[in-house]
Amino acid sequence: MWISRAAVLRQTGAPMTIETLEVGPLGAGDVLVRVRAASLCHTDLEAIEGALAVNLPVVLGHEAAGEIVEVGADVLDLGVGDRVVLSWNPHCGRCFYCERAQPILCRTFLANGPRGFHFDGKPRLACDAVPVHQLMYLGGFSEYCVVAAQSAIRVPDTMPFDRAALIGCGVMTGVGAVTRIAKPAWGDTAMVIGCGAVGLSAVQGCVLAGCGEIVAVDPNPARRQLAQAIGATRAVTPEEAMDLARSLTDGRGADLVVEAAGRNETFRLSVEAVRPGGQVVWLGKVAVNDEVMFRWGSLMQEKRITRSSYGGANPARDFPMLARAYLDGKLKLDEMISARIGLEQINEGFAALKRGETVRSVVMFA
Ligand SMILES: NC(=O)c1ccc[n+]([C@@H]2O[C@H](COP(=O)([O-])OP(=O)(O)OC[C@H]3O[C@@H](n4cnc5c(N)ncnc54)[C@H](O)[C@@H]3O)[C@@H](O)[C@H]2O)c1
Ligand SMILES: [Zn+2]
Ligand SMILES: [Zn+2]
Repeated sequence: MWISRAAVLRQTGAPMTIETLEVGPLGAGDVLVRVRAASLCHTDLEAIEGALAVNLPVVLGHEAAGEIVEVGADVLDLGVGDRVVLSWNPHCGRCFYCERAQPILCRTFLANGPRGFHFDGKPRLACDAVPVHQLMYLGGFSEYCVVAAQSAIRVPDTMPFDRAALIGCGVMTGVGAVTRIAKPAWGDTAMVIGCGAVGLSAVQGCVLAGCGEIVAVDPNPARRQLAQAIGATRAVTPEEAMDLARSLTDGRGADLVVEAAGRNETFRLSVEAVRPGGQVVWLGKVAVNDEVMFRWGSLMQEKRITRSSYGGANPARDFPMLARAYLDGKLKLDEMISARIGLEQINEGFAALKRGETVRSVVMFA
């Protein structure tokens, strides 16, 4: 049994509290990770605000990196000292969806995820012997966390922990939406709506895929500037987006539009701005019972629309590639870190994320 300092959410809408938890024991297929960096994502914020239903008390945090300090008896491919990025999509490999190469729909994953326990459905964290839940099988806002071995993906030792953490959700989702889901043709005209961590990563996916014009759309001028710094060829306000998409394409519209803002008007803009026969990938989300309205004509003409979670991630394949791309200077991650904070500052960190002041704040553990 290990002891860990962690940020615990006991009540939605209330600040998290820093507490000491009991961690473990490890199952045969688990690893114990000493978390070195964990970044603050919008999905954590949804849990804090109650928009995403989670069982309480819970340790949030699903974008994290650290090092392995102990491995379970059946773990053969990871060892003590390995540097890992955490993946929030462990999957069984045997269910209907896994057998059809859709691990994000894995039955076990979807059945246990909302319960906030481990992939086997059991708790690994406790406070005074009372179980504490782990968001998305991880719970990265803790000095130590026990995760299924398949949730710990090894990356090179030269990969800095704070930048490695970003790969685990926002970067994978945005880059993957383009490179794994849309797979645009070289030279295509792309538009990315919303330039938070997810959208900025989608812009970089477009660069990596060889898109020609890459139009970033965001009402926030600082975000537009950042988008251009990391590879967008143009950056405009939502009001300017339609005219620009048409003027760049002889009136057709963009070949690919990635939506990464999660608002009624951005879902609508995505299908209006894409050309007939073009592709739309939706990454953002509104509350599950909200309705989004479209002009019917905007959905016609052979448009292909995909809603993706995790950008088609196969973490074991993709995380090392993303780390390598960073180390080779092809993927820009430094620019996405707005602040490095201590665990005690986590509540202020989420307030800043909500106000749109930060792309990513990263909690740094000693
Ligand atoms: N699909 C997934 O697996 C997945 C993973 C992580 C996050 N998300 C979702 O993706 C979305 C983006 O996440 P994020 O962490 O980058 O959030 P974020 O809040 O950092 O970024 C959203 C951006 O959208 C911009 N925006 C607001 N209104 C806009 C408008 N009308 N037009 C264009 N841009 C607008 C904001 O200024 C901001 O820069 C959220 O909805 C989040 O829940 C999805
Ligand atoms: Zn499965
Ligand atoms: Zn996330």
